[in-house]
Amino acid sequence: MTILPVPHTAIIVVAAGSGTRLAAGAPKAFVGIDAHSVLRHALDGVFAAMPAQVIVVAPAGLEGEAATELRAAAGDRADLGRVVTGGATRQLSVAAGLAALWADVDTVLVHDAARALTPSSQIDAVAQAVTADTGVIPSLPVIDTLKKVAGGTVVAAVDRSELAAAQTPQGFPRALLEAAYAEALHADAEYTDDAALFAAAGHVVRHIEGSARAFKITTPADLERARQLLAPPVRAVGIPLVGIGTDVHAFGGEGNLWLAGLEWPGEQPLSGHSDGDAVAHAIVDALLGAAGLGDIGEHFGTAHPEYAGAHAEVFLSRTREMLAEAGFEIGNVAVQLQGNRPRFSRRRAEAERVLSAVLGARVSVSATTTDGLGFSGRGEGIAVTAIASILPRDNDMNSHVPRE
Ligand code: CTP
Ligand code: MG
Repeated sequence: MTILPVPHTAIIVVAAGSGTRLAAGAPKAFVGIDAHSVLRHALDGVFAAMPAQVIVVAPAGLEGEAATELRAAAGDRADLGRVVTGGATRQLSVAAGLAALWADVDTVLVHDAARALTPSSQIDAVAQAVTADTGVIPSLPVIDTLKKVAGGTVVAAVDRSELAAAQTPQGFPRALLEAAYAEALHADAEYTDDAALFAAAGHVVRHIEGSARAFKITTPADLERARQLLAPPVRAVGIPLVGIGTDVHAFGGEGNLWLAGLEWPGEQPLSGHSDGDAVAHAIVDALLGAAGLGDIGEHFGTAHPEYAGAHAEVFLSRTREMLAEAGFEIGNVAVQLQGNRPRFSRRRAEAERVLSAVLGARVSVSATTTDGLGFSGRGEGIAVTAIASILPRDNDMNSHVPRE
């Protein structure tokens, strides 16, 4: 057995935030960019850099999921990684990571999982630039013209040549960073980032050139940007394949309604083998149909008790995986639901965000009533129709079309 040297660098990947501004229905680190989560992409970058101890700081309750992502990214270097539980603020999460450092570590990098596409070369460059008494941050020049404003009025111009936009990883000599954190904890002081905390303890922080790909995924537009950057180039060799799915569920049962991936407190639930989410089920059938992979009953029906009570996210992410395995990516999904309740429009944007995030593709949902006609008009249930388009990933359309 080869004994590998213990690394002297550690990378703390903070992933314990809730992602309030992204509002994707799950803590940000666990939201999918493509088939992989934000955290998995961040860790792929980390493991492609020099060998280091890797500490993932996860939200309480999601340590197991974080460990799964860590193992997948680490490959045969799983010995380097561990997961700890984060705190209520980013600063407390970093502190939790610091408490897990190996004794041999002398350089600590703190990295936002939310900067998921950070190139590994940036991680290496920061680690190399840290000295025994200086910290290092990657930064980019500020491009926009900046103004100081107060109460709707521009009060001053700001000289942007004096400014830089800070990124991560931020690197520090371990002993000084630990002491600076202890000081901040003692003074109950909260800093915007690790460099500010380190500087407040009287130390020098230098900056090196960051990169555009190290942007932080904060808003839905940022997530879209990450998706665009990762999207495989698809050569249009023909028209996309399309599929259709319909589903009907009657109202009935106990608890709250689950529809379009959302829980609707106070609304009557739909009955069904799973949570009765007719929107999700119609989407699954449309996608499977487009790919010629059968239907929902075959893959998720009563013969699969593991899906009893499961919510949309489970069905949809598994369907996305099946399509990916079969060589397809999802183009878009359009859904229409017919029913008197719930009043869908007020949560349409939220539903579309959740469904789009799970599928990694644009999902639009419209709702209509039927003028009092039929079962949906009588308020007995909901009917849903979904259409999906999919694109072959391998640029070889013909291999997926039955030949004559
Ligand atoms: N973070 C953390 N622990 C916290 C808060 C944030 O580990 N208590 C991490 C996030 O997971 C993220 C990084 O710090 O990787 C940068 O934070 P931010 O982009 O603000 O993420 P969130 O706090 O999750 O997002 P939001 O502020 O929109 O809720
Ligand atoms: Mg935050």
